[in-house]
Amino acid sequence: MERKKRSPETEKHKKEKRREIDRMEQVQITQWCRRFIEEQVQEGDWCIDATAGNGNDTELLCRLVGEAGRVWAFDIQEQAIEATRKRLAEKGLSDRARLILGSHAEMERYIEGAEGRISCIVFNFGYLPGGDHSVATQADTSVKAIQQGLRLLKKGGLMSLCIYSGGDSGFTERDVLLDDLKQLDPKQYLVIVSEYYNRPNHPPLPVLVIRL
Ligand SMILES: C[S@@+](CC[C@H](N)C(=O)[O-])C[C@H]1O[C@@H](n2cnc3c(N)ncnc32)[C@H](O)[C@@H]1O
Repeated sequence: MERKKRSPETEKHKKEKRREIDRMEQVQITQWCRRFIEEQVQEGDWCIDATAGNGNDTELLCRLVGEAGRVWAFDIQEQAIEATRKRLAEKGLSDRARLILGSHAEMERYIEGAEGRISCIVFNFGYLPGGDHSVATQADTSVKAIQQGLRLLKKGGLMSLCIYSGGDSGFTERDVLLDDLKQLDPKQYLVIVSEYYNRPNHPPLPVLVIRL
């Protein structure tokens, strides 16, 4: 049977659609935060991914710190740590990261001697995409982790937080975190809370904290 030749309109339509998806991805919360992370992290830096998940942020940090840098990545789920391990191995980045199956609320215990040395800490709260939605970050442990992370940050260091609410996430974690961040000493930390102002249905909140 003779194959139908694709019309140029269809190809054009597909390209347009692809461009539209690219544009949407660029404005996703994680991509938005990544711009600031990429600007912040230099070769040789020490960084933390507090919620490794599928390893996207761990991979980014590993790339940015280069061979001389170090990355610590935490997750309480074995599935997440394994996914991150696999991702780093495939990209040849395994040597740059220490993967920890444990809570970020204990991060200071795992990263001794790093107080005031960390360049960037990434939090992407909520549940593992494609995983069990009932295993998600919780307000009390998230607050502990942020407090420890802030002590670990160096002057000029950046903490990036993607905060979700509504649906499976509820509102407690978002409200507790925002309350806590509001209390931070303005002489020591700059806190920027961004907003997807015209998006309906509880859009996520990208938050940046800079240690002054
Ligand atoms: C939205 S996902 C992270 C996505 C990830 N940054 C990525 O690039 O794929 C949130 C992750 O936080 C993890 N998590 C939940 N509570 C945690 C805790 N106390 N300590 C560390 N990780 C935790 C979950 O298991 C889940 O994998």
